Amino acid sequence: MKLSLIKYFFCLFLIYAGSASSVFGRPELKTQQADVKDTVTFRSPYYDDNERCFKCHGQNKYEYTNENLGRQVKAMMYSEIIIDRNKFYESNHRSFSCTDCHSDEYAKFPHAGELRMEQTFNCIDCHGGDEKFAKYNFEGIEAEYQKSTHYKLDAEGFTCWNCHNPHEYKINIRNSSNIKEAILYDNNICLRCHSNFNQFQILSDREEINILQKHEWLPDQESHFKNVRCIECHSELNDTILVSHMINPVEKAVKRCNECHSKNSLLMSSLYKFESKEQRKDGFLNGIMLNQSYVIGANRNRYLNILSLVMFGVVLIIIGGHIFFRLTKK
Ligand code: HEC
Ligand code: HEC
Ligand code: HEC
Ligand code: HEC
Ligand code: HEC
Ligand code: HEC
Ligand code: HEC
Repeated sequence: MKLSLIKYFFCLFLIYAGSASSVFGRPELKTQQADVKDTVTFRSPYYDDNERCFKCHGQNKYEYTNENLGRQVKAMMYSEIIIDRNKFYESNHRSFSCTDCHSDEYAKFPHAGELRMEQTFNCIDCHGGDEKFAKYNFEGIEAEYQKSTHYKLDAEGFTCWNCHNPHEYKINIRNSSNIKEAILYDNNICLRCHSNFNQFQILSDREEINILQKHEWLPDQESHFKNVRCIECHSELNDTILVSHMINPVEKAVKRCNECHSKNSLLMSSLYKFESKEQRKDGFLNGIMLNQSYVIGANRNRYLNILSLVMFGVVLIIIGGHIFFRLTKK
């Protein structure tokens, strides 16, 4: 009798553990959708035109005719002004000619000195008020950016281009089927300055900010930086813009664990915003989280909880009945 009772309780435990997987184990991660790559590579109508520039700006060395010496001279190209052909032709502005944004005068070398003073267009000059780009809400982004902590560096030359590399930037999280890659891409935008003091000091006289040290309070930093974006903690949530652009002063950064590790995780209205609209419909609120990453505390499911309670109750009744009959049948 005693032995079978123990067996019953063991079964009970197994059933409970099985149904409450969010307590006892990680749900199995579904494999991520393979990246769909364009099979047709883009061929720019300006390919040959652009080669005029790429022949020097496309690799580590360049050649020109030194008229004083009367011969060809080879020299080293500064790494900062080398442009990656492949990345350029994958970027949002891949259909452009270099000289759509830069003066035609650059075709000549040595470049004329006054070209350094060249004015460049802003995003809003081309994208503002254009129906075709309405879904991005450029005007909203512009307004947010002007409230952002970086905007105080406007006079030092901080612009949209500082984060949106003119020769490489491409929309990412909006089209991404691989959220980890999208996170990496977005975080690298910030790290271009925040892990590279050479870039940072062009814009500010502040001492170097050690990012690893500043985030020591965060356990398993590496895992967090791979699974959330900097902007999750450093920017203001926004309903009308997919990627929030208002970077807050550091005092307002998210530090409380349960802002993410809870049922009302802020990630639902930031990182998972796009997916969540699609996947929330079926009522299974946590679909995205279970698919893409496992955020402790955020993916407790009400139905699973109820189900496991019901099963627990049923098992108790069966056991109760069984014990009752055993005792009375003897
Ligand atoms: C013969 C090689 C050569 C060719 C061809 C060339 N460049 Fe350059 N370019 C350079 C070098 C070297 C520098 C850096 C020194 C300087 O500023 O003159 C430079 C600098 C620049 C700069 C940065 C200026 C600054 O503000 O520091 C821009 C922008 C530029 N090139 C654009 C172009 C464009 C656009 C083309 C094609 C229409 C082009 N270049 C063709 C060699 C070349
Ligand atoms: C969509 C507009 C746009 C196109 C197209 C474009 N550029 Fe630029 N480029 C810019 C802007 C804006 C800057 C200044 C970046 C900054 O201020 O941070 C720049 C800067 C540069 C620089 C200076 C180094 C740097 O990165 O700051 C070089 C060199 C350059 N461009 C060359 C080229 C070449 C070569 C092409 C064609 C393959 C090209 N650009 C196409 C907008 C463009
Ligand atoms: C000189 C005008 C010009 C400037 C400056 C410019 N863009 Fe664009 N941009 C365009 C055009 C035109 C296209 C469409 C290109 C195409 O369809 O091949 C485009 C495409 C895009 C796209 C892709 C849109 C889509 O639905 O495919 C994004 C995103 C974008 N730009 C963002 C920016 C950002 C951010 C900036 C500033 C950092 C900027 N652009 C600056 C003219 C510009
Ligand atoms: C501090 C860095 C930073 C600055 C400054 C910045 N952006 Fe962005 N922006 C980002 C990041 C990060 C993303 C996310 C890229 C992605 O995943 O597609 C983004 C995305 C975007 C997108 C695409 C959003 C979408 O709906 O797909 C647009 C459009 C854009 N930015 C425009 C701008 C404009 C306009 C400015 C200047 C007024 C600007 N950005 C300044 C960091 C910045
Ligand atoms: C989980 C939330 C979180 C994430 C993710 C996060 N940060 Fe922070 N960050 C903070 C908090 C909170 C502070 C303030 C720490 C303190 O009080 O000392 C901070 C501090 C900083 C500072 C120091 C500012 C100063 O003036 O001292 C910088 C710069 C910064 N973060 C940039 C980044 C970058 C870049 C990333 C992405 C690689 C990132 N953060 C990711 C929460 C976060
Ligand atoms: C082009 C360089 C550059 C890029 C890219 C950049 N930052 Fe910064 N950021 C700076 C500089 C410079 C400062 C220091 C401003 C100052 O002087 O106080 C700063 C300051 C900050 C601060 C501290 C603000 C405070 O109150 O002290 C935070 C937080 C921050 N950045 C977050 C980000 C995030 C998040 C991203 C990416 C979306 C990003 N930054 C991208 C250059 C950059
Ligand atoms: C901006 C949102 C956010 C904040 C704030 C945050 N976390 Fe996380 N955390 C995450 C995400 C997303 C993951 C998912 C990692 C994964 O998929 O493995 C995670 C994972 C973890 C893990 C598991 C690490 C691993 O290796 O799997 C621990 C432990 C953790 N967080 C603790 C904390 C603590 C403690 C705090 C507060 C000091 C905190 N988190 C703040 C988003 C956040």
